[in-house]
Amino acid sequence: MDARQLKVKAAETALGYVENGMRLGIGTGSTAREFVTLLGEKVAQGFDVAGVPTSEATARQCLELGIPVKSLDEMPELDLTIDGADEIDPSLSLIKGGGGALLREKIVASASNRMIVIADDSKVVEKLGAFPLPVEVMPFGLEATRLKIERYATELGLSGALNLRRSGDGPFMTDGGHYIIDASFGRIPDAQALSDALNSIPGVVEHGLFINIATLAIVATDSGIRTLK
Ligand code: 5RP
Repeated sequence: MDARQLKVKAAETALGYVENGMRLGIGTGSTAREFVTLLGEKVAQGFDVAGVPTSEATARQCLELGIPVKSLDEMPELDLTIDGADEIDPSLSLIKGGGGALLREKIVASASNRMIVIADDSKVVEKLGAFPLPVEVMPFGLEATRLKIERYATELGLSGALNLRRSGDGPFMTDGGHYIIDASFGRIPDAQALSDALNSIPGVVEHGLFINIATLAIVATDSGIRTLK
């Protein structure tokens, strides 16, 4: 199976966890996109759900497919969020934000009773960090924030390039109007320590380490579906 077929398999399996009447958080990225496509088919057949999208792109797709969209203020408690990930470790810690939606993704997942991650098996790793960690930062004070990230990372024994994500001629801008610094640490031995350090920097809005948020990962492999809990 190619990568897209694996994503569809994971999305199909996740759809089995969605019950009529559920309040959903709806993720962002190419895997979540496959899930939204399948959810749209169910809604067209009369399935009754409402969803809070984690990005403007996902909101557009939901609206195109007739999936009822709510804001998180209208529906502040959710039953289930389904979203992709860039990396998944054996304890279900994640790196997210490859698509730049990590802030809304974390807010929405945290407002949910459960978060199911859907992925192909290329996303499963022993230790997080090969995928550059997205850190969402305020445009104001960018260089000061970047220096602080570098200093705190060094204190934790981490080193690597901190690159401002770009799009076209300028910096990539998130749905919230922030920038993203992609931190290539290679390996993150203590994700909780790094998370705590990043959270203590005023210019950091959020980061892509999701720890103790996901409750289940549905991983599609060539030999079938594997779940991590
Ligand atoms: C977007 C995300 C995505 O879920 C993550 O990047 C995975 O994307 P894909 O399913 O396209 O590999 O965190 O911010």
